[in-house]
Amino acid sequence: MAKICVVGAGNMGAGIAQRCSQSGFSVSMVDIKDEFVKKGFDSIRRTLEDGVKRGKIKPEQVDAVINNINGTIDLAAAAADADIVIEAVFEDIEVKKKLFADLDKACKPEAILATNTSSLSVNEMAAVTARPAKFAGLHFFYPAAINQLIEVIPGDKTAPETVSKLVDTARLLQKLPIVVKDAPGFAVNRYFVPFLNEACKMLDEGVADMATIEEAAKKTLQIGMGPFELMNATGVVIAYHAQESLHKALGTFYQPAASLKKQLESGQKWKVEGSPDPAKFDEVGERFLGMLFCIALHLVEEGVATKEAVERGATVGLRWKSGPFAMMNEIGIERSLDIVKKYAAASYLKIPEILVSQAASKKPWSLRSVQVSKEGFVGVITIDRPEALNALNSKVLGDLNHAISTVAADESVKVVMVTGEGSAFVAGADIKEMISKTPMEARTFTQLGQSVFKRLEDMDKAVIAAVNGYALGGGLELALSCDMIVAAENARLGLPEVTLGIHPGFGGTQRLPRQIGKSKAKELIFTGGMVDGKEAERIGLVNKAVPREKLYDEVRKLADKIAAVGPLAVKMAKSAVNKGTEVDLVSGLAYEIETVSLCFSTEDKQEGMTAFIEKRKPQFKGR
Ligand code: COA
Repeated sequence: MAKICVVGAGNMGAGIAQRCSQSGFSVSMVDIKDEFVKKGFDSIRRTLEDGVKRGKIKPEQVDAVINNINGTIDLAAAAADADIVIEAVFEDIEVKKKLFADLDKACKPEAILATNTSSLSVNEMAAVTARPAKFAGLHFFYPAAINQLIEVIPGDKTAPETVSKLVDTARLLQKLPIVVKDAPGFAVNRYFVPFLNEACKMLDEGVADMATIEEAAKKTLQIGMGPFELMNATGVVIAYHAQESLHKALGTFYQPAASLKKQLESGQKWKVEGSPDPAKFDEVGERFLGMLFCIALHLVEEGVATKEAVERGATVGLRWKSGPFAMMNEIGIERSLDIVKKYAAASYLKIPEILVSQAASKKPWSLRSVQVSKEGFVGVITIDRPEALNALNSKVLGDLNHAISTVAADESVKVVMVTGEGSAFVAGADIKEMISKTPMEARTFTQLGQSVFKRLEDMDKAVIAAVNGYALGGGLELALSCDMIVAAENARLGLPEVTLGIHPGFGGTQRLPRQIGKSKAKELIFTGGMVDGKEAERIGLVNKAVPREKLYDEVRKLADKIAAVGPLAVKMAKSAVNKGTEVDLVSGLAYEIETVSLCFSTEDKQEGMTAFIEKRKPQFKGR
């Protein structure tokens, strides 16, 4: 696995080093003094021992995780053979710039440099290095060893391969990455820090007392700690400086409240005392919502983050029950617009156009549970419901259908990869949704699943399933609808429907026997058993099993090979192979004559054969 060098052994640096080590990376943790490195190790040991007490970590893992980290003060030596360097020193742009200039010299040319900044410009830091294409932000959330959110922040010159590598790495760290633009506060702190500031502003304006503001925030956002308790836990000083850096970058609205400044100067924590006044909860709650909605909508309008990324930031990074878009859906879009209009007018903020048009449509926000992205010519479909191991409910199937249309219509996409966010590929159809279905409803649901998977099977581009974890029931059936399957060696594949008193319905009883033969398929279906990636390769269920960390590179290599040949030939070959599994041999052969003859009508055939004779590489145009 890659070697990661973490610079800075403070709270964040130590947490990052711990997470990297726990995920099997070889890790160096560097600081400027031995005592700082020692402090870092002490904090890692404390966190791990706490994990043992809570039953999350086995006792023998404590020393193993610590021994896998090389603590040092020799930056150049630690950076020399690192594949990725993650900087986690304090938030001072000059210190960081100097560090990156040194790292640029010390690191091998192919190494990626990443900053864990929460508020400074990625572009500004990238500019001091000679490798801006291999530079990006990688913002961990506190506590870094546990919190699953990571913001991956490409700068203007970051290469797409660098982004892919960091997203892959974040996933190997068992994180849920969101890719966001290099903008002040990125996708989370842009509204989270002003949320703290808004509480102080209300205090300054005498809207309510501290206890009322604290309680109203908890009730409105359904969170365990209000803004003042949060500041006490994470530091008033951090809140102030984060707000001040937003203020410098974005202007007056973000100016730190007078009470926040005063509290900082006092060096004290907030004293949340007295009884809250419920009569003011609505007014205070609306202020919070107005601010939150306004900024979240600006983030989307400015292209800093997608709605889904903003939601994940809130629910995973901040552990809120819902993000701003789900909250707007809950209270109603028209009502949300009223709240935003009122807040925007009082704060001299722009009313977000997207909310105005959404309200006019009278529809709630649609939050997609299947994401589409592009890595060059590879269209990537990611089933994105990690909290339920990507289980397929009607919404996911609808979103998958939409994603298929998107990649199918995109002419620049030559190969499609299907994968799952988080630890699973797809752990089956959604049992919680299915349990109450009548036979007729189950029929409609099954038809939906079958028809969506059939569209994937029939797409005229090569489709590769990258099975990153559990591929069970509908998950394995989804993979079987793809042209090829590459699986992680530790993935688990199976059709466990019989254990639920039903049998596979999204094509499993039909495609599995065609793939691995009748009797092996029956064994898997009748027992509901699972096989790992290696066994799946042995029985011909998947094309190849590779170590988890190599999964996406393996799929990209396969995609490269397919993209290098004639796209029309691949399209027609796919059609011929698929048809052949549906009809008798004679009909299949007849069909093959038609498809291969059609190939002779293409420019690609002329180019391919001419290139062979001229002993050069063909340049296929898909015509
Ligand atoms: N439908 C609905 N929810 C599912 C699901 C499914 N097929 N598979 C997993 N989930 C949910 C779990 O209910 C749980 O939600 P919760 O946190 O609200 O309780 C969450 O995903 C995490 O799953 P959990 O079971 O806690 O993870 P695990 O690591 O202990 O076990 C599995 C993983 C895959 C072995 C287990 O989730 C499982 O057996 N899932 C069902 C597989 C199946 O039968 N699929 C065929 C369906 S037709």
